[in-house]
Amino acid sequence: MQWKQVLSTMKPYKPGRSTDEVKKAYGLENVVKLASNENPYGCAPSVTEFLRNASMPFEIYPDGHGTTLRTKLAKKHRVDEASILFGNGSDEIISIISRALLDEHVHTIIPTPSFPQYAHNAKIEGADITEIPLRNGYHDLNDFLDAINERTAIIWVCNPNNPTGSLIPSSEIVQFLEKVPENILVVLDEAYFEYVTDPNHIDSITLLERFPNILVLRTFSKAYGLASFRIGYAVGSPAIITDLNKVRNPFNNNTLGVTVASIALEDNAFIENCQKLNEIQRERFKAFASEKGIHMFDSETNFVLVEVPGDADEASEFLLQQGYIVRSGNALGTPGYVRVTIGSEEQTTGLLQAFNLLLTEKGR
Ligand SMILES: Cc1ncc(COP(=O)(O)O)c(C=O)c1O
Repeated sequence: MQWKQVLSTMKPYKPGRSTDEVKKAYGLENVVKLASNENPYGCAPSVTEFLRNASMPFEIYPDGHGTTLRTKLAKKHRVDEASILFGNGSDEIISIISRALLDEHVHTIIPTPSFPQYAHNAKIEGADITEIPLRNGYHDLNDFLDAINERTAIIWVCNPNNPTGSLIPSSEIVQFLEKVPENILVVLDEAYFEYVTDPNHIDSITLLERFPNILVLRTFSKAYGLASFRIGYAVGSPAIITDLNKVRNPFNNNTLGVTVASIALEDNAFIENCQKLNEIQRERFKAFASEKGIHMFDSETNFVLVEVPGDADEASEFLLQQGYIVRSGNALGTPGYVRVTIGSEEQTTGLLQAFNLLLTEKGR
């Protein structure tokens, strides 16, 4: 086969271990997965209720326009319906953007460590990539500006950043956008937007009128608790959305997925409650890390990146044996740390006990 040469340097995405797999491997009765930043509280009760009796014309192709969901989202964000692009998760939107703008003649700027799909897709398209290291876990947007050249097509900004959880202040985003040439697409990936509690944070969709070269990515996979339905969306200027739509597959979202997303959108109280509960448990992590003298990055998300004694793979394995699946920082570009999704109160209590055991084991 005459594969793109770059594929020989790449690996397929390796999903984390499932709870069933871990239960079997370690003979555990209870296993808690805190590895993929899913919502421990599930999804809105109205969605669960709907799914109990859901009957739809599944033999018919989905509405490729996602009309009902589109109308609701446009109203919620006060944008034109033509400003929205749906993807099979924001993962697919990242790949649509990359396919539409990147090739071997262009350049793209990516934070590191950050969400790996930006670099993964850019490599497949053969783009020239500049990776900008975080500074103390934060994007330094001046470094991004310095990296711009005449071939730069996309700048990726992950806000808050995965895996550090750090938030770029809105004022810095605005100052940055003022300096970015308007022919460069700035992607603001805001998968964890609903978890942000910083009162100074502004909704970047409101910046669109001033900066039509931005594209804001959001998802139903995190706070909305609908990861398995694969619904992500981008909000941008209609002109940009039109070009991206040329690359999108016609029926990339399914009927059930868009229906439950539009039901979920009605339940603001569920999202507000999840944000509140998440913040309470996030504070417990903070207090624990500070009491134990271990470093933890400031997080505005539903996960935390915490320092571990010794090797991160070994620490993850230890926590796995206690029934907690977390992500080793070795795989995320943050050796010496593990990324832990913030669970419910009970799950956090258990995880912190297991973490304490790990520290004791290592003499800390
Ligand atoms: C920063 C970021 N962007 C995008 C995604 C992809 O989300 P989805 O494809 O489920 O919408 C994730 C998932 O973990 C993420 O952390």
